[in-house]
Amino acid sequence: MCGIFGYKGMKNSFSVVFNGLKDLEYRGYDSWGIASLIDGEIKVVKKTGKIGEDFDEESVKSSISIGHTRWSTHGIPSDKNAHPHFSCDKKIAVVHNGIIENHDEIRARLKGHKFKSDTDTEVIAHLIEEYMKKYDYKEAVVKALGELEGSFALMILNSEREEIIAVRRGSPLVLGVKKEEFFLASDILALLRHTKEIIFVEDDEMVIFNSGFKMINFVSGEVIDRKPEVMDIDFNESDKGAFSHFMLKEIYEQPKAIEKTISGVNGNGVVFQIPEKVLSRLNRVVIVACGTSWHAGLVGEYWIERFAGIPVEVEYASEFRYRKPIIDENVLLVAISQSGETADTLAAVKEAKDKGAFIFSICNVFGSTLTRVSDLVVYTRAGAEIGVASTKAFTTQLSVLYLLSLFFGEKKKVLTGSEVEKRKEFLKKVPVQIAEILKNEKKVREIAENYYLDKNALYLGRGLNFPIALEGALKLKEVSYIHAEGYPAAEMKHGPIALIDKDMPVVFIAAKDKTYEKVMANIEEVKSRKGKVIALASEGDSIVAGKVDHVLYIPTADHFILPFLTVIPLQLLAYYIADLRGCEIDKPRNLAKSVTVE
Ligand code: F6R
Repeated sequence: MCGIFGYKGMKNSFSVVFNGLKDLEYRGYDSWGIASLIDGEIKVVKKTGKIGEDFDEESVKSSISIGHTRWSTHGIPSDKNAHPHFSCDKKIAVVHNGIIENHDEIRARLKGHKFKSDTDTEVIAHLIEEYMKKYDYKEAVVKALGELEGSFALMILNSEREEIIAVRRGSPLVLGVKKEEFFLASDILALLRHTKEIIFVEDDEMVIFNSGFKMINFVSGEVIDRKPEVMDIDFNESDKGAFSHFMLKEIYEQPKAIEKTISGVNGNGVVFQIPEKVLSRLNRVVIVACGTSWHAGLVGEYWIERFAGIPVEVEYASEFRYRKPIIDENVLLVAISQSGETADTLAAVKEAKDKGAFIFSICNVFGSTLTRVSDLVVYTRAGAEIGVASTKAFTTQLSVLYLLSLFFGEKKKVLTGSEVEKRKEFLKKVPVQIAEILKNEKKVREIAENYYLDKNALYLGRGLNFPIALEGALKLKEVSYIHAEGYPAAEMKHGPIALIDKDMPVVFIAAKDKTYEKVMANIEEVKSRKGKVIALASEGDSIVAGKVDHVLYIPTADHFILPFLTVIPLQLLAYYIADLRGCEIDKPRNLAKSVTVE
């Protein structure tokens, strides 16, 4: 987490960095800070809270600045712990994304240095200062880097030099170039408003920019000559338009995002580019992801097993590599990530890649780290997702997984060509069906009015809709801070039923599928214990309406398509409940959009 931004050029660097940090705020927003070089001195501004609250960006003038927006790991959010951090003599300033795992050890060793913060980052500035007693500046930086354990993307400012040094190991760093202007940021989205000429900095690389820029490998010393790539991506999606929050806007963007994703996959046939030799030996699919992307993976598991008969395991990326997973070259590893920067997912991919698996990733951010370490990437075309709670990324991930499962189904001869075509037609109808569901927004808002003061909620679903119950519960907790749990509906009687009373709202996904009768029985069990029930039901189902407190209807659809539809009212419900509670929906407390620490 955390976002870093640096600039050197003829514009006011403070203002460029200040606005760059706003573009990176989704990575963390508990405090921010900027260091600017002015007449041989480093001036610093640090604030607790979101960027720019009560601050005039033109109040500092400089041509060279580095900045940071923070998601706390070490030390509470406060002015003192906000980056940049300094050496004792204030000559070295550092901003950092990542974690220095051996910071306690280094701190203990740096006798005589006065530390001002509780952060892991501060040791870097002091370590450079210590080495500068014996070595010149650049050597001192390299020596200090040699001691750091963990992950980092760093920018360093030295009050005696008109230059920024930036390095990367394990955390993202991207360089943007424009005539006589240099930009550095944690991701390309923050650079696109300035330039489309981008260089991706790789692990162990250092960028030095002064009058020009130079790149070296700081371990081997080798000079790197990498030309900028021109990114054909527009920066035009960070506007809420008429919507009061990005989350709501993004919920409404789903029909378009799914259409674009389907045509992206079909249009250039990317799904079909898995090499024949990989397909012929494939005996298992392992899906790794976190959070909402993991829920998409669970739906993918049902589809792939059912349509293609290939065994699938879905793993939390964060757990995967800590239990010596059995992976070989017969495994296709599917990594799902909106951001492509989730540290746990990247670590799982590395583990699987080292063991010979083919890495197929489903990602929304062009040029992100995941896309560069994968053997094959299929992009979801959701556009920039700004709201911290993931919505359109989820349904576009489902779109790719659905098409992937049909592709496997045909390859493995479990489905005929005409069955595949029929199922693709079902998918093509999804955008229109979602648009229909969105017309019921008012009804969802009314239901939210009945429940927004509650403290708990249960979400129950079976089969393909069990992951949707998990996703509905996750959405509610994230944006409204109401405690919510998702369970397979049939598991309720094995424990959670003890929670049911008149104060426990239970959301049932009770659409017409093979589990319908069983889910109806579970509804009766909750009602007979005085629980409040909100049911998602298939259009025209009047029976369910007679049994529950509220019903939200979804269009009738093929059983396998239901997750695309049932998730929509749950996204809206979480949104409206959070809105009624006055929560900061797009930037919920303690969260960050991109989780770049393990
Ligand atoms: C939930 C949410 C998170 C992410 C998770 C993985 O709304 O946004 O749970 O899904 O942090 O992020 P990505 O998909 O970027 O790897």
